Amino acid sequence: MSKKNVAVIPGDGIGPEVIKATLEVLEQAAPGEFDFQEVAMGGNAIDKYGEPLPEFSLKTCQNSQATLLGAVGGAKWDNQPPENRPEKGLLKLRAGLKVFANIRPAKIFASLASACPLRKDIAEKGIDFIIIRELIGGIYFGKHETFKTSENERAARDVMEYSESEIRRIAHVAFKTAMSRRKIVTSVDKANVLTTSRLWREIVEDVSKEYPEVKLNHLYVDNASMQLIKIPSDFDVIVTENMFGDILSDEASQITGSIGMIPSASLGENNCGLYEPIHGSAPDIAGQDKANPIGTILAGAMMLRYSFNMNKEADKIENAVDKVLTDGFRTADIYTEGQGLKLISGSQMKNEIIKAVKHA
Ligand code: IPM
Ligand code: MG
Repeated sequence: MSKKNVAVIPGDGIGPEVIKATLEVLEQAAPGEFDFQEVAMGGNAIDKYGEPLPEFSLKTCQNSQATLLGAVGGAKWDNQPPENRPEKGLLKLRAGLKVFANIRPAKIFASLASACPLRKDIAEKGIDFIIIRELIGGIYFGKHETFKTSENERAARDVMEYSESEIRRIAHVAFKTAMSRRKIVTSVDKANVLTTSRLWREIVEDVSKEYPEVKLNHLYVDNASMQLIKIPSDFDVIVTENMFGDILSDEASQITGSIGMIPSASLGENNCGLYEPIHGSAPDIAGQDKANPIGTILAGAMMLRYSFNMNKEADKIENAVDKVLTDGFRTADIYTEGQGLKLISGSQMKNEIIKAVKHA
């Protein structure tokens, strides 16, 4: 049987640690299934090759069945010109893989309820929604420029643009996702101000006609950010443009405990996806074995599910994470004192998860 090709980008900061942990967990859940090929991207690629995403790195990812990514970036590369920043490598990778739909689940593990900063009566109603973020359009990919005004003052602009087909395809992903869940789509925009948002709303309305069973709501992004902490149990599937999705998904991660817990899958027309945690490279704790590997490990589980249809193995990993949390093991980011919890390092967390996968 030929092995499944997976491109692996450890990246910068805590990226290599959380990726190492994830590869070990994947190997335990699906022994001998994968051929992992390491790819340079981010700050380390700038240091080595002078650019954040060399052409050969992108090619390797494009030729793989899936790409697994840790995190990129760090203060060391802050002075790079905008075109050569590590983050630019990530955007080029997303565009190069044509992964327009970024799926970010926000689900509270029962065992982590105490890490939820919301009032108990709010958290107890349950939190289980998915943010579907448009990933390769909008202001992230519009023209960025600096210029001088007629008064010779320095100025800058970033253009936000969306075409009908870009909105249509992400709307379909949202409605299809909702069909397998509670059948509620909340489309988030700023249609009271932005023209792109008015088009967004119109197209989403139009696509919704093909999914009569799904209830569609619209919220302005400012209101959505408020409702998410006021009554998170109301949400099922949220669909929104690139930058709003970036912001709301960080908010969602805090509601469910920690940004270190949240995985994401980015998918295109085929299932050659990109899988990454939503957290960044956290240079302040890199190399200290403090980083929570769970976000990346769960991204690995999403890869099994979405790219390889290996649902049994994905369940094993997700259940193992749940068990380890239920058993009271916590990395620093999800630890609360005085509750009898066990504070452990990132690699101990990985070892506990491997043990739980083995006995699943
Ligand atoms: C994310 C990150 C990235 C983004 C950065 C690192 C460019 O914040 O994946 O949410 O803004 O998309
Ligand atoms: Mg972000």
